[in-house]
Order: sequence, then C-alpha cells, then structure tokens
Amino acid sequence: MKKTGDLRNMKFHIRTFGCQMNVNDSERIAGILTSEGAKPSTSLEKSDLIIINTCAVRKKSEEKLYSYLGRLASIKKRKNVTVGVVGCVAQLYKSEILERKPFVDFIIGPDNYSALSEIVRSNREEKIISTSWSQIFQDFPFEQIFRESRVSAYVTIMEGCNNFCSYCIVPYTRGREKFRPMKAILQEVRDLARKGYKEIQLLGQNVNSYCDPESGKSFSILLEEVDQVDGIEWIRFITSHPKNFSRDIAETMAGSDKVCRQLHLPIQSGSSSVLKRMNRGYSREEYLEIIRMLRRLMPDISLSTDIIVGYPGETEKEFQETLSVLDDVRFTNIFSFHYSPRPQTAASNQKDSVLFDEKKKRLIQVQTLQKNIQVEFNTSLIGKTMKVLCLGRSKKDPQVSSGRNQGYQVVNFQASEDFTGRFVNVHITSCGPYSLIGEAV
Ligand code: 5AD
Ligand code: SF4
Repeated sequence: MKKTGDLRNMKFHIRTFGCQMNVNDSERIAGILTSEGAKPSTSLEKSDLIIINTCAVRKKSEEKLYSYLGRLASIKKRKNVTVGVVGCVAQLYKSEILERKPFVDFIIGPDNYSALSEIVRSNREEKIISTSWSQIFQDFPFEQIFRESRVSAYVTIMEGCNNFCSYCIVPYTRGREKFRPMKAILQEVRDLARKGYKEIQLLGQNVNSYCDPESGKSFSILLEEVDQVDGIEWIRFITSHPKNFSRDIAETMAGSDKVCRQLHLPIQSGSSSVLKRMNRGYSREEYLEIIRMLRRLMPDISLSTDIIVGYPGETEKEFQETLSVLDDVRFTNIFSFHYSPRPQTAASNQKDSVLFDEKKKRLIQVQTLQKNIQVEFNTSLIGKTMKVLCLGRSKKDPQVSSGRNQGYQVVNFQASEDFTGRFVNVHITSCGPYSLIGEAV
C-alpha cells in the first residue's frame, strides 16, 4: 500500500456502480476524504487514490469491477496510486479480490466506511480488509457528505434487508435491516433545506419497514415529520416492498402536498407461482390490489417497477403473466433484468433452467412492450404544461435544461435562463419513450 500519511493535497477518484444507495455511499466516502483535505478528480491519471464502489446484484454488475480493475492495472504499473475496492462485491469476496488482482490495496465493506480515512492514512505496507458487521446503524456526520447535486439529495434512512428473496444477494452483502434514528434523519433533512435543496429522496433497501430505533415510530410517521420541514418541496422514497406497503403509507402520501405522486414498487414477476418461488410474500392479485388502492387515493400517481425474466423454472405461461401485468398496470417506467444466479442465495441451488437465449428473448419482449406503453403515455402528455424541478443545464447546449416532473420522468426543455434548483412550468412539445421534451413557459 502506498504510504500516504496525510490526505491533504491528495487527489481521489471514485467510480460508482449500482443503485442509489451506492451513489449516496460514494457521496459519503467523498465527504470523508474531502473533510481531511483530499480533492476529487475526474482524471484517473492524476489521482493518487482510486476507489471503486461495487455492486453485486447481478453477475454482470460484478464483472464491471474486474473490467475496470483491468484498466487500472496499467495505470498502477506506471505510477504509485492507491486502489481500494469498496461496497457489495468487497463485502462478498473479500480476499478473493486480492488473489485475483494483487495490486488492490484495500477492501472495505458497506458497513465500514467510517474506517476509510484511517485506512488511507495508515502508513502500513500490508493489504487491509475491513468487512465487519455492525448490529446497529452506523451513523455518520451528514454535514460532510459531498453531494453530486445541489438541488436533490439522497438521505439514507435504513440499511440492509431481512426479506431473503430467493434470487437476491443483498441480505448477504448489506446484512440485516438497521434503522437510522429519526432524529438524525430529520436533522439531515433540515440541514439540506437550509442549504437550499428542494427535493429529498429517502433511501433504503426496504424503506417501508422503517422503525425508529428510539421511539418505534413507523415509516408513515417519518414521512409526516419530513413533510413538516420548511423549504423541502418534493419528497420521494425508494425502495418499497409490496409486502410492507401499508394503507397507512398510501394515505400519508395522499394527504401530503410534498410527497410526490410517484412510487417505485418492484413486482419482479406477474405470476403468483413465480412470486411464491421467489419468496416475495405477495401474489399477483395482492400486488394489483395495492395498485388499485394507490390509484383510488391518487389517480395521477406515476408507478415504476422492477422485472426479472427467466427465473428458474419460469414457463412460457408464467412469463406471459408478466407481460399481462405490464399491460394491465401500464407503468411509467420499468427496470428489467434477466435472472442471474448469485452465490449464497436460495435460488442458486436450483438449476438455472431457462436458457440464456430464451431469457434474452423474454427480456426483449418485456422491453418492447414497455417501450410502446411509454410512447403511448408520453405522447398523451404532449400539449400539457407541468411542474418540473430543474436539475441543471446541458453542458453541450446552454439553451437546454433538464429536470424531472412529479412522476420522476426526465424532462428536457428549452430555457434562456438558468433555472437550476427552481421549479419551472414546462409546456411539453414532443417526447421519446424515455423522456419528455418541452419549453419553459
Ligand atoms: N438476477 C436478476 N435481477 C436481480 N435483481 C436482484 N437480484 C437479481 C438477480 N439475481 C433485480 C431485482 C431488484 C433489482 C434491484 O435488481 O429486480 O429489484
Ligand atoms: Fe433483495 Fe428482496 Fe431485499 Fe429487495 S427485498 S433487497 S430484492 S432480498
């Protein structure tokens, strides 16, 4: 390991793979480093410290680590740079990463970021692996977080998952559910409001199961409390689990002017038999009942979901049920994947029976159907004017800005002024399947 001693004047680069939790963790890591005087750099060549924050949810995400490390190997030969692997792959494979890539200097799991500056500073020659688990939520100084946006902020409220969906590696990489005290969450939200943030996104693997470790208060009470913070105008949360999505939460959403009319509610499959094999804890009908309840309370709610195709034993008939659920619900957006066996999971003991070509075919069918649904929905928005939170201006064309509407759709719009950080009324003039196009009015 490179002897650093002092972090002042050190340049660091963080490459993040994976979900919003990882993005927020990288912002925390950057905060730890900058608070010690290190500076972020976009250039790998100019960096003294390179950190890769990894995702293990699918084999493909894991492979991204190794192809990235392949690129770093040549830099490492040319100059003295410290390389650290952090996040879910680090937690899972620990020393195996060092065996495959001996030039890596340290490995840190998601529960150990508070040890980071000590590890980087320690003038030790040996490799360092820090992947211990904590039973309680490891809080952190939120003032330090080095955020990517100055408009919309992620706020972590819980970590880990107790659900053990049969295909999912998360309980093995992030451990069991740990809840952040509500007081600390509210302090962070108030601090963000003071700094001028307009939107916050509450984060966790299963936010609906939130329970304040100090008072026992539930997720809907947390939403009500966050709703009271002046200055924050839009509130979102991710990820919700249908099994824990209570009527209480839906009613709190409906009763609030700030909680966006938008929900990401992963269904994974439209077939009750596949859902049972996945250990999801709800049936197709129960999921659809939640959607009906949400739409009764909030007719304009925008819904998105996650889909897995080709789960072990998924028959053509079961797959058709996934297509029909997409057709029934008509989500605004989906994230779809083919099943990827993950180590330690229950499903990895079953034969990965759906052939790769068949998985690919099913994934294309899902994505084609969904694309048509989105084109139809987005076209229906042409001519409407909607409120958009402007997140920034295009680097290529300063006349174009980009933001999101309540439904979390990307809206690119013409504007002569810089509206970053402000709400703008945008008149929609055209669209693609994945975004809306318009003009500020
Ligand atoms: N294979 C494919 N997709 C997966 N996901 C989680 N584990 C797997 C897996 N083994 C998907 C789920 C989840 C999203 C984050 O990733 O759809 O909701
Ligand atoms: Fe994984 Fe299921 Fe937990 Fe989501 S709820 S993180 S899919 S185990």
